Amino acid sequence: EFPLSGKVTWRAPSNIALVKYWGKKPVQIPANPSISFTLDTCATTTSVTFTKKEGDADFSFDLLFEGKPKEEFKPKILTFFERIVSYLPFLKAYHFDIDTSNSFPHSSGIASSASGMAALSLCLMDIEKQLDPTMDRTTFNRKASYLARLGSGSACRSIHGSLVEWGIHENIPQSSDLYGTEYPFAIDSVFKTYQDTILLVHKGEKQVSSTVGHQLMKGHPYAENRFQQAVQNLDSLKPILASGDLEGFIQLVESEALTLHAMMMTSMPYFILMKPDTLEIINKIWKYRQESKVPVCFTLDAGANVHMLYPENVKENVQRFIDDELAMHCENGQYIHDRVGKGAVKI
Ligand code: PMV
Repeated sequence: EFPLSGKVTWRAPSNIALVKYWGKKPVQIPANPSISFTLDTCATTTSVTFTKKEGDADFSFDLLFEGKPKEEFKPKILTFFERIVSYLPFLKAYHFDIDTSNSFPHSSGIASSASGMAALSLCLMDIEKQLDPTMDRTTFNRKASYLARLGSGSACRSIHGSLVEWGIHENIPQSSDLYGTEYPFAIDSVFKTYQDTILLVHKGEKQVSSTVGHQLMKGHPYAENRFQQAVQNLDSLKPILASGDLEGFIQLVESEALTLHAMMMTSMPYFILMKPDTLEIINKIWKYRQESKVPVCFTLDAGANVHMLYPENVKENVQRFIDDELAMHCENGQYIHDRVGKGAVKI
């Protein structure tokens, strides 16, 4: 029997893809496998208070975002609940008070859907675990990732640390289209403390959502080649990660980022999410790397912000580079230092 009421809290991190997920099949099945670093600082903390209610015909929930009621987010949660109710039948038997906040500044242009959907899924799984206390950790994590995927594809990579793969790949054991799994192969220690500084180029709403972007991969003239390339890049990444080959890493990661945006530019309708400052930063990173030999590279999400990836031991050099040359391209000079993290935690 379920308890009559209770409260659970989880903190889930954001993630940054090295090999990008772009294109999907129903329902939230990736067109190609992807892999991401789990982040640490950028995270969502969500509390869910549940109270047994009268009747079980409808969903009932209230939402606080950063401490304030947020009506705009409710349709997204409702859609999510509708998608997952067959896996969590208790959803209609309770009223939920969802209290969620992000560690990163509000409307910073950092997508919170990955960390947000992961944190909410973990809270709901935690409630389910009270019905089935014998549930083992693997089952718990897999199902949390499965649910998170139904909320936002890349969210399924925000449960575990530190390198997570999602999407069936014949050379990656345990890989699944349905949930993310920890990368099963050896990783050189340099990648275990890798840094990600997010340069906030443009904080406004982007013109084209990733939902629309994924759809535009249907019938895209380069889609099949792109999906094959992602599969190959996952293979190429294996020796790079195992040996700490930074040159190979830089080349693969930057190519993935530019290919993602090339897909946007060559879809119909076409669109561009990079801004002039995105390109300024990319060019400065290339020049700096060539002149200083500091192994810093960039990657991009579906937006204008630049993620700068680099080993921990060059942190000070990179800070000087940011202060001297990059902060001027960020909105209000803003950037966020993050690093590879260990996955979601119960609070
Ligand atoms: O999870 P979604 O549907 O918002 O898609 C995100 C896709 C990218 O961030 C562009 C790439 C990725 O793999 O995270």
